Amino acid sequence: MLKSGPEMPLVCVTDFQALARERLSKSSWDYIEGGAGESITRDDNVTAFKKLRLRPRYLRDVSQVDTRTTIQGEGVSAPICISPTGFHCLAWPDGEMSTARAAQAADICYITSTYASCSLEDIVTSAPRGLRWFQLYVQPERELNKRLIQRAESLGFKALVITVDVPTLGNRRQDLRNQLDLKSNLLLKDLQSLKEQRMSMPNLKMTPIDASICWEDLSWFRSLTQLPVILKGILTKEDAELAVKHNVHGIIVSNHGGRQLDEVPASIDALPEVLAAVKGKVEVYLDGGVRSGNDVLKALALGAKCVFIGRPVLWGLACKGEHGVKEVLNILKDEFRTSMALTGCRTIAEINQDLIQFSRL
Ligand code: FNR
Repeated sequence: MLKSGPEMPLVCVTDFQALARERLSKSSWDYIEGGAGESITRDDNVTAFKKLRLRPRYLRDVSQVDTRTTIQGEGVSAPICISPTGFHCLAWPDGEMSTARAAQAADICYITSTYASCSLEDIVTSAPRGLRWFQLYVQPERELNKRLIQRAESLGFKALVITVDVPTLGNRRQDLRNQLDLKSNLLLKDLQSLKEQRMSMPNLKMTPIDASICWEDLSWFRSLTQLPVILKGILTKEDAELAVKHNVHGIIVSNHGGRQLDEVPASIDALPEVLAAVKGKVEVYLDGGVRSGNDVLKALALGAKCVFIGRPVLWGLACKGEHGVKEVLNILKDEFRTSMALTGCRTIAEINQDLIQFSRL
């Protein structure tokens, strides 16, 4: 899987992207990088951040900058956490175990995917003190969901994240083109151990996800667990209002990294609409296109409580395993601290809308 490459200084997240491309097989790269359709939303996620301009304030004693914050009441070293992504063993042999160790070292939250290539037990054992949330792709067999959720809760996961934007898999053209090359024969270990189910990449299109789930079903999920329930994949004010009405504890504004429905808004563009509907009743997070400390600052200035990153973690893994993920997280945290200092923010509480130049939009 890994090809050797010359050492080069990796100073920003996109440096890891470039090296990961060299290191990964074509089919793995395409799977990680791919967007749905024409990848319009995938690319918009990144460029929409770049259209926002900042309004710095000076002479405010930024000799001490504190990036710490909380999510669902749990402390994290910075509002930069890890989105759920499947199949980390595509990028590094021990996959999610490396990711979990890096997240624990960085003192941030790692949302573990239903489609992890390592078992939940192995992930927890490899980083026992890490803060983790469990992401659920709702399975058609209701009992299986119950067992997955209760297993995650008993293993110490601190929230249940239900992904709502995959009633069916998005149309990822490159994966379809590569189908014959994908012989990884990956195991979905958690589902497998519960159901004796073996899945391989070519069968991803057939991965069972319950397309029938509705708002009314959320109370059943909430009844299964004491954990806070967070919906991932909300993009509109209508769904945000329904989420609050159905007593969820948090929302991740997300378009799945542009991998589901193409030509939906960039996450950062959808964020204000969702925040206006939620009216501060639950925490709102964002993922999609976060590639720099300035991006983190902009999302928080617009009202997100925390951002999550997907592909950058996989780039870090592909380049250097656990150390690569640590470096990616450290780069983003350092850049964010610099962005705070250069805009006059000493604490997360001081980050607000005044940092954004709205007249230009
Ligand atoms: C994902 N994403 C995802 N989401 C989810 O809820 N469960 C999952 O298993 C996966 N798997 C997955 C695999 C890969 C390779 C990618 C790139 C993405 C979506 C992910 O959680 C997140 O929404 C996006 O990756 C965020 O966008 P960026 O940071 O990749 O731009």
